Amino acid sequence: ALPARVRIHEVGPRDGLQNEKATVPTEVKAEFVRRLADAGLTTVEATSFVHPKWVPQLADAEELYPRVAGLPVALPVLVPNERGLDRALALGADRVAVFASASESFARANLNRTMDEALAMFEPVVTRAKAAGVHVRGYLSMCFGDPWEGEVPVPQVVHVCRALLDMGCDELSLGDTIGVGTPGHVSALLTALAEAGVPVSALGVHFHDTYGQALANTLTALRHGVTTVDSSAGGLGGCPYAESATGNLATEDLVWMLRGLGIDTGVDLGRLIATSVWMAGQLGRPSPSRTVRALSHQ
Ligand code: HMG
Ligand code: MG
Repeated sequence: ALPARVRIHEVGPRDGLQNEKATVPTEVKAEFVRRLADAGLTTVEATSFVHPKWVPQLADAEELYPRVAGLPVALPVLVPNERGLDRALALGADRVAVFASASESFARANLNRTMDEALAMFEPVVTRAKAAGVHVRGYLSMCFGDPWEGEVPVPQVVHVCRALLDMGCDELSLGDTIGVGTPGHVSALLTALAEAGVPVSALGVHFHDTYGQALANTLTALRHGVTTVDSSAGGLGGCPYAESATGNLATEDLVWMLRGLGIDTGVDLGRLIATSVWMAGQLGRPSPSRTVRALSHQ
């Protein structure tokens, strides 16, 4: 059985723009977030409070967040450590996300830590955020494969998921950072998580579309009861610390599939496509989304 409703966790302004060669002006980013909210998305991941040298594209988080904070949507932000949490709390953020890794190589590349050190770094972040009444998402990267280590063993992923939940994360997002996962692997991971007692209601999926598997993987996750799906308007995205990562599943492609399945998302596809076409114009290249290409003249 498929769910009646899916919540789309839009990551374009964060995952999409963190990897752009050119730095996008703050006002363009703010307009992007506003247009996404206007298109009916209810969760729009706005930016990251990470080290500005590590992700210069999002170094304007302090300027951007106040410009969008009044919108009637949830605006989660990434925070890697207490310094990031302090910056986010100072601006009144009420939803944060920590981001762990299921592989040692990526923990080192992305966080300059071992997996355990990274979890130790997140622990006070989650504790303090929860004490402040802030909702916490825990991302888990490299849930399927890692560019340096190859296939990531399912038990290793389950172990880190448990650690994040035990720490107090309200929800998890299972990341296929480099897009190598396939439906059988998604099924195996979700089955193992269910057997380990992880409630499916706490799980979201985050597929990058490098190998064109993101929609098939999403459908598989829906069949396992997942109702939160991450995607990026126009298919923007990638991770600056994982070379083989390309864009996320495009929100338009996701909405097209869900609409065909009779699953409600609240998103106005026409407005969303117009937003991605506008953003593509700002970035100077067409959107890679198949649905945007089919339904627009960009
Ligand atoms: P580090 O170099 O080990 O930092 O980086 P540190 O803890 O040693 O601190 C060094 C200096 O940085 C200190 O300053 C800190 O104050 C400062 P100093 O005392 O030397 O003057 N600092 C900060 N400044 C501002 N904001 C902060 C901050 N933290 C420390 N938050 C660190 C460690 C975690 C900070 C760094 O590795 C980092 O920022 N990494 C972020 C990488 C990133 O954002 N990657 C992309 C997001 S993850 C992703 O895309 C995957 C996802 O989409 C899911 C998927 O697809 O799988 C989520
Ligand atoms: Mg990602």
